[in-house]
Amino acid sequence: MTDNKNNKNSSNSKIYFIGAGPGDPELITVKGQRLLDSADLIVYAGSLVNPELLSSTDAQKINSYGMRLEDITSTMVEALSRGEKVVRLHSGDPSLYGAIIEQIDELAKHNVEVEVIPGVSSLFAASAALGIQLTLKGVSETLIISRPVGETLEEDDLKELSRHGATMAVFLGTHTIDEIMKTVEYPPDTPVAVVYHASWKDQKIIKGTVEDIAEKVISAGLTQSAMILIGGVVDPVQYRRSHLYSPQ
Ligand SMILES: C[S@@+](CC[C@H](N)C(=O)[O-])C[C@H]1O[C@@H](n2cnc3c(N)ncnc32)[C@H](O)[C@@H]1O
Repeated sequence: MTDNKNNKNSSNSKIYFIGAGPGDPELITVKGQRLLDSADLIVYAGSLVNPELLSSTDAQKINSYGMRLEDITSTMVEALSRGEKVVRLHSGDPSLYGAIIEQIDELAKHNVEVEVIPGVSSLFAASAALGIQLTLKGVSETLIISRPVGETLEEDDLKELSRHGATMAVFLGTHTIDEIMKTVEYPPDTPVAVVYHASWKDQKIIKGTVEDIAEKVISAGLTQSAMILIGGVVDPVQYRRSHLYSPQ
């Protein structure tokens, strides 16, 4: 079934939460792009959604940065009740640090149904930029996704989590990288990569170790919008081949 934006009727009965992908406009899913193209209203989540994605549509666009939850949801509900197709656009994949559940719960109070369309997380754009494998036999087959303390988190688990020696992806941590590297308990020579604006035209990659990465990132002037990847997979010296390509 095709979605036609000129069809302002009861068929627009739900709100689409779409993962915009990490930045490169071509990294949105085909389904996400189709829904975006047919939207009447797009409420997008701030600066990590590439404006190029929005420029191709003539839908009304609202940046939700700084808006209250109730205002975001009432704006969407009102548009939906006018028969408009409404898209809520989140950066990367909406399920990672996207705060979607509180929006979905709020929408449920208005009996509004939601469909979530996944997206390519910045985590995967960062690993692609580095050309690495986040799970690598003989190095680490476990990936921990976490974030440091910040405006919306009083206490983090980075110290305990680092004791597993797994690959760790740290979101929302560029501004506090010095603190993060002092907190984690990986050996000081553990490889670390910081990928700023993964998949954007101004993407930057900084590589180092737990010991020296903070200094490098600070002197490069990076304070936000970067992914921190910690672990041997970032610069594998020794790994084992998987069984996949070496059948016994
Ligand atoms: C609120 S979270 C949203 C994450 C998003 N849902 C995702 O899956 O990528 C914002 C954080 O994601 C990371 N991030 C988002 N886009 C990025 C990109 N293109 N490159 C590197 N990190 C990015 C940064 O750590 C940033 O502080």
